[in-house]
Amino acid sequence: MILSPSILSADFAALGREIKIVEDAGAQWLHVDVMDGVFVPQITIGEPVLKSIRKITGLFLDVHIMITHPERHIEAFAKAGADSITFHLEAAEDPEEVIRLIHENGIKAGISIKPGTPVEALKPLLLEQKAPVELILLMSVEPGFGGQKFMEGSFEKLKGLKSLAIEMPKPPLIEVDGGVNRDNASRLMELGADALVAGSAVFGTKDADREKAIAENAGFFLGL
Ligand code: DX5
Ligand code: ZN
Repeated sequence: MILSPSILSADFAALGREIKIVEDAGAQWLHVDVMDGVFVPQITIGEPVLKSIRKITGLFLDVHIMITHPERHIEAFAKAGADSITFHLEAAEDPEEVIRLIHENGIKAGISIKPGTPVEALKPLLLEQKAPVELILLMSVEPGFGGQKFMEGSFEKLKGLKSLAIEMPKPPLIEVDGGVNRDNASRLMELGADALVAGSAVFGTKDADREKAIAENAGFFLGL
């Protein structure tokens, strides 16, 4: 299982240190949530922060862009150090072109769908193989904030997505994002999730020994 801790719930004033903790705990990826205040209500981080993160970690930088006009920012995020860029089907006028741009920049491409978007919406893009992606990100909460409750309907969607993926000549990895916690992680893996994003379940601790608690949280998922 690939764990992709989401830094959205980390302490941004101690970001470098908190990234090190999850890296030392054995996480393979780091999930970076980019929000523009338009596609989703919040504004989070952009290229300058990603660039600084790139300098201090060898983790695979799994960049999730929740922005309109994704095509305008691909090159900048790739140059800043993204290893993969996942954009939203709902935000792209021409998803094939965005995928092509991501690949042109030498990194992996992912596509994400919101809870209200059916898996079938991905069919034309994926099955016709016009623009293959390496990753599909299934949102199990409404994108925009960390710490929300997992939407139970996501289990069924994951099953649907898995059956779609195996029809592809080169099945993409499936990652689940939103409300992933100790109670639902095993079931998600059983249903075929290859990677799990966990924000508040890793960084959202009130424990006095924050570093130890974060390491333990990451360790829980990695031990599954
Ligand atoms: C939400 C983001 C998620 C978020 C997950 O829009 O895409 O990556 O950080 O946070 P948790 O794990 O707390 O739901
Ligand atoms: Zn995310």
